[in-house]
Amino acid sequence: MVSDWQEHLVVRRCHPLAATAKTPDTLTFALALSSVTVRNLDPGVHAALLAVDTESISLAELTRIARAVCRDTDTTRLLRELGRLYVRKGLAFAVEHGTETLCTLWSTSSLGTATLDLAEAGHRYRMSRFAVLRREDSDLVVDSLAGHARLSIQRTELAAALAGLHRPATEPDLAASLAAALPPEVLGACLRLMVLGGVVGIVDEDGKLPEDRDPDLDLRDPHDLLLHNRSRIGLTTDPVGGTYRMAGTRPPLPALRAAWSGARTALPRPDLDALTRTDMPLTAVMERRRSRRRFAPVPLSLDELGEFLFRVFRVKQMLPLDPDEPHSYEGSLRPLPSAGDAHDLEVYVVAGRIDGLGRGLFHYDPLEHTVAEVAGPGYPVSALLGTAKLSAAIPEEPPALIVLASRFGRLAWKYEGLSYAATLKNVGVAYAGMYLAAEAMGLAACGLGSGDAGSFGAATGVKPYVESSVGELMLGPAAVAEP
Ligand SMILES: Cc1cc2nc3c(=O)[nH]c(=O)nc-3n(C[C@H](O)[C@H](O)[C@H](O)COP(=O)(O)O)c2cc1C
Repeated sequence: MVSDWQEHLVVRRCHPLAATAKTPDTLTFALALSSVTVRNLDPGVHAALLAVDTESISLAELTRIARAVCRDTDTTRLLRELGRLYVRKGLAFAVEHGTETLCTLWSTSSLGTATLDLAEAGHRYRMSRFAVLRREDSDLVVDSLAGHARLSIQRTELAAALAGLHRPATEPDLAASLAAALPPEVLGACLRLMVLGGVVGIVDEDGKLPEDRDPDLDLRDPHDLLLHNRSRIGLTTDPVGGTYRMAGTRPPLPALRAAWSGARTALPRPDLDALTRTDMPLTAVMERRRSRRRFAPVPLSLDELGEFLFRVFRVKQMLPLDPDEPHSYEGSLRPLPSAGDAHDLEVYVVAGRIDGLGRGLFHYDPLEHTVAEVAGPGYPVSALLGTAKLSAAIPEEPPALIVLASRFGRLAWKYEGLSYAATLKNVGVAYAGMYLAAEAMGLAACGLGSGDAGSFGAATGVKPYVESSVGELMLGPAAVAEP
């Protein structure tokens, strides 16, 4: 029997599939970058799969084609192969009502799975914790982060249905709540499409989804999956990489941040030739390095701060923008590498106890090797140092807190999908450089994972989507007792 909802659930090819049959029970489909061959098909499934190479055909029609050719055709196999072609991005599923498309589902990764639920009734459904609803241009889309699918919603009633599924509900419950805005069989098709994409799932008697019982998924936060999926090729159908997405629409940000107007202090420069001769060998530095949270009861000297910042963060050479090259942007060479040579990270110093600097927040100018005052003593600065103290569970504020803040636009101008991921990688690079320099200098350093971007924004007055703190490291003279 073909259910009513199957008349509305349609299969659409994503591109011509150029199906070829080497033998009567085999079919090969061309996919974007590969092909898929299905074997040992009964004549009914074979005929139905040949018919999917079209703009739109309903599941009911495919089932009829299969049964017309072979009375006891394996419809479960047909659904499995449709699911396989969908996962490999050869097919999309949609729900149609008359000439209207209500929603469309695409696979976003060949690592996904697709099982069409043909159960007729009796289930309770619930929205996945990993379904993220948002607007993209004039479309309403739901990203199913664990189901590796994207649902595009064309009828707002469906968004209401989805909202209703924050709690478990049956199909009749939902139909009633939609006040007949959608015929039940159309809603049924939409619901099955959402289940197929993992946007909603079928709950057990405790109202739990399979994802709630999966210890690996239960561990994860939706925003972490969103960032990971969106920033990795193969987990998204959106562009990932250096696409120069904003080139031609706006100029790139300059390599150096606009100078702060506060009082400037010139920092002492170390003698790099002398350090090259006297520094501990790299292996010794790496072997000795520890996170050191105990500071001597003396301030960090300006010499030490100057040497530390010079070793790790200074600009060695500016690389000018080429005005004839649309993808060109100003760069710089520094001791550490940086994604796209964009050096999006600005270095700030929260001074607690630094000789020659009052208590406050300072910005490091990596070209001039100076610091400029951004905020004086008082609330945001004490909150920044207080959060560091709490994060490291130490009794006193650290003498200095190095705060790395990204000018996000530096990377976002060029990179699509991965710019924030690249920022965090740059933070990792900076942590490693700072840890090693501190160890070589005999200073105590400890990276922190939970910085206070709110207090940082309060101190700078800059919107957190423009420039925000993304990493912190405590720095100071080491306690004598530290090994
Ligand atoms: C990204 C990152 C975040 C960290 N966050 C904290 C933190 O919030 N508090 C803390 O006391 N230590 C923090 N640490 C230090 C680690 O606890 C430390 O590296 C780890 O215990 C291993 O010890 P070791 O660095 O001495 O080898 C962090 C280290 C890194 C790299």
